[in-house]
Amino acid sequence: MSSPPQPDSLPTSAPEKFPVDLRNIMRYFASAVTVTTGAMDTGELFGLTISAFVSVSLDPPLVLVSIRNESTAKDLFIRAKKYCVNILSADQQKIAEKFSLSGEGGRFQNLDYYFGKGGSPIIRGCIGYIDCKLVEAIAAGDHTLMIGEALDVGYEKKDPLLYVDRNYARIENPKRD
Ligand SMILES: Cc1cc2nc3c(=O)[nH]c(=O)nc-3n(C[C@H](O)[C@H](O)[C@H](O)COP(=O)(O)O)c2cc1C
Repeated sequence: MSSPPQPDSLPTSAPEKFPVDLRNIMRYFASAVTVTTGAMDTGELFGLTISAFVSVSLDPPLVLVSIRNESTAKDLFIRAKKYCVNILSADQQKIAEKFSLSGEGGRFQNLDYYFGKGGSPIIRGCIGYIDCKLVEAIAAGDHTLMIGEALDVGYEKKDPLLYVDRNYARIENPKRD
């Protein structure tokens, strides 16, 4: 693995309005990858690839996903009042790619999923899922923070899919208990 660039070699380009462009540093923040899904009462399914996911509180069990305001799914999540965070395994890169393509209408075609207790799609083969009801949507700049209360979780021991420096990656020597 090559070592990260030193601060003085980082790109310095920034949007005109603000002095920093977070993308220049956040690309080096390795993260797991989720596909966060939802369903309308009409049966319409939606979802997108999201790495901005955090556990917020244990009691009550709260999590958060951050969604770009321009995403077609943002208003759907708010209207559906529920979502499911599916944490992808290393062999699910194709799913991550499909759910991150703008204008991709057939995201759920040929996808192996079922509906969880909360009514959102759970993708089979994931490391785990957090099935949530939406409790708060907080506007934050060009994103919206969707806080969800976990209704149900499921998991199995698998290798995670990672994303770093604009590329998918996997752990070379995963350690298992
Ligand atoms: C690895 C990865 C992580 C991403 N994380 C986020 C995220 O946290 N929030 C977000 O809004 N978009 C994220 N995106 C971008 C969305 O997946 C993408 O903009 C969206 O699915 C495009 O479809 P839409 O135009 O229908 O919303 C990510 C993309 C990739 C490839």
